[in-house]
Amino acid sequence: MLTQRPLYYCSSNPGKLREFALAAETIADLPFRIEALPGLKQIPAPPEEGLTFEENADSKASYYSRFTSELVFADDSGLEVEALGGAPGVHSARFAGPNATDADNNNLLLEQLANQTDRRARFVCVLALARESSRIATFRGSVEGEILQQAHGANGFGYDPLFFYPPLARSFGELTPAEKFPISHRGRALRLLFERLRDASR
Ligand code: IMP
Repeated sequence: MLTQRPLYYCSSNPGKLREFALAAETIADLPFRIEALPGLKQIPAPPEEGLTFEENADSKASYYSRFTSELVFADDSGLEVEALGGAPGVHSARFAGPNATDADNNNLLLEQLANQTDRRARFVCVLALARESSRIATFRGSVEGEILQQAHGANGFGYDPLFFYPPLARSFGELTPAEKFPISHRGRALRLLFERLRDASR
C-alpha cells in the first residue's frame, strides 16, 4: 500500500478544504493526503495585500509553511470581468466593501454591468506550494463564462449563481459540487499541482 504524507492546506474555509480533500481521493497513486494545517486556528492570518492572485497565494503559502516541515499549499481566487477591466479580481471577496456579503457583491456586479452587452468573465484560482518558508511553484486554473442578468440556482457560493457556463448551459449555482469541481478554476489548478507532485515523487 502507498504511504501517504500530509499535504497541508492553510485556509479556514471548510468548504474548500472538503472539495480539495475529496478531489485528492479521486486521484490514483497520489502519495499525499490533503489535511488542514495543524493548529491553523491559532495562527494569525497574514494580510492579503498582493496585486495578483499569484502574489497572494505565494505569500500565504510561504507564511504558513514556517509552522511545519511538511509541504503546504494555499490558494487565492476570484472573478475577472472583461467589461470591468478584470475587476473585481483579487478584491472579489470584498468587492462591495470590507464586510460585504455574497449578495452585496452580486448586486454590485449586476449594477456595474447594467446595460453592458459584453458579459464575458472568468474565474481564476492560483494555488501556491511552499516548504519551510521557501516558495516552490504556483499553479493557475481558470474557467470562462458569462455574467447573467439575474441569479440562477442556489448551489455553490460567491458569484456562482451569476456565472453562466456555456458548455453545460447552466450557471455554476445550478451545478452540484461533483459537476462543478472537474471544470472549475479550483479543480483545474489542483490537477496541475497534483501532476507536479506526482512527477516529483517518481
Ligand atoms: P478567496 O480565494 O477565498 O479569497 O475567494 C475570493 C472570492 O472570489 C470569494 O469570496 C468569492 O466571492 C469569489 N470566488 C472564488 N471562487 C469562486 C467560486 O468558485 N464561485 C464563486 N465565487 C468564487
